[in-house]
Amino acid sequence: MLSSILLLAALQLSAAHFSIEYPTWRADTLAENTTYDQWRYPCAGAAPGAAGRTEWPVQGGSVALSLHHEWTYVFVNLGLGTNASAFNVSLTPDFVNVTGRGTYCIPSLPLPIQPRDGDNATIQVVTSGKSGSALYNCADITFRSSAQPLSGDKCKNSTGITAEYVGQAPAPSAGSSSNSTSASNPPGNAAAAKQLDAVAMIAMFGFSMVYVLDVGL
Ligand SMILES: *[C@@H]1O[C@H](CO)[C@@H](O)[C@H](O)[C@H]1NC(C)=O
Ligand SMILES: *[C@@H]1O[C@H](CO)[C@@H](O)[C@H](O)[C@H]1NC(C)=O
Ligand SMILES: *[C@@H]1O[C@H](CO)[C@@H](O)[C@H](O)[C@H]1NC(C)=O
Ligand SMILES: *[C@@H]1O[C@H](CO)[C@@H](O)[C@H](O)[C@H]1NC(C)=O
Ligand SMILES: *[C@@H]1O[C@H](CO)[C@@H](O)[C@H](O)[C@H]1NC(C)=O
Ligand SMILES: *[C@@H]1O[C@H](CO)[C@@H](O)[C@H](O)[C@H]1NC(C)=O
Ligand SMILES: *[C@@H]1O[C@H](CO)[C@@H](O)[C@H](O)[C@H]1NC(C)=O
Repeated sequence: MLSSILLLAALQLSAAHFSIEYPTWRADTLAENTTYDQWRYPCAGAAPGAAGRTEWPVQGGSVALSLHHEWTYVFVNLGLGTNASAFNVSLTPDFVNVTGRGTYCIPSLPLPIQPRDGDNATIQVVTSGKSGSALYNCADITFRSSAQPLSGDKCKNSTGITAEYVGQAPAPSAGSSSNSTSASNPPGNAAAAKQLDAVAMIAMFGFSMVYVLDVGL
């Protein structure tokens, strides 16, 4: 009984994982038989540069995600350098609750910094759902003044995807020492963590039940 509940919980959790459709993510962290783990800060255990680097506009570009949950908080951070250790530039100061499953494409994320042509960086996408704890994926980029955001036909939201403004997310914490995978300390930063506390509480007290019920038992 216990093991089948755990199995169902695990299945439901894997369904809640997400992928980065654009720019190319470091690795397919959803693939079977790998050591990737989306719960793992900062990049699910995928090595920098593992899938090369996408040329991304110096004035900011597109990010497309595939979301697999009823609703998802989405944060996009930037880490500067070829092997960033701090993902401390927030590209989503206004963070959103995205409702629906499918592709969520942000046509052009403005940059709060001014990179130079040729600078390397890593886009870190953090999502959080009703469990309150965070999932991570990264995509490595090189800033190019010649690069363009995705065209309209390549950047579309799936039918039924909507996003609701939830609040302001101040700059994410600098270090990787922050316990970002803990349910009581969700992604990004302290203020966001406060706002997510209610979500985390639900997770801590109703976690297995919620997921088992979702599966339809
Ligand atoms: C993963 O490993 C299991 C057990 O070894 C095997 O049955 C399965 O085919 C593997 N899946 C892939 C995609 O390689
Ligand atoms: C990236 O930096 C970390 C330490 O911050 C180091 O352990 C790792 O080997 C580096 N990876 C590459 C590919 O340079
Ligand atoms: C981000 O962290 C790096 C390394 O710790 C630091 O050099 C940089 O100034 C920080 N940037 C911001 C915007 O906080
Ligand atoms: C996010 O949106 C969904 C669907 O509208 C809603 O059920 C959920 O409560 C929202 N989450 C939060 C934490 O506001
Ligand atoms: C950016 O990364 C590429 C490959 O990962 C490397 O060849 C290049 O030297 C890096 N550029 C800078 C400015 O560090
Ligand atoms: C997808 O939906 C979000 C939220 O409504 C919106 O900001 C974004 O522009 C949409 N993307 C496209 C390609 O229309
Ligand atoms: C992170 O949180 C977990 C669970 O709350 C805890 O066991 C672990 O010691 C914490 N790690 C750090 C570095 O604070």
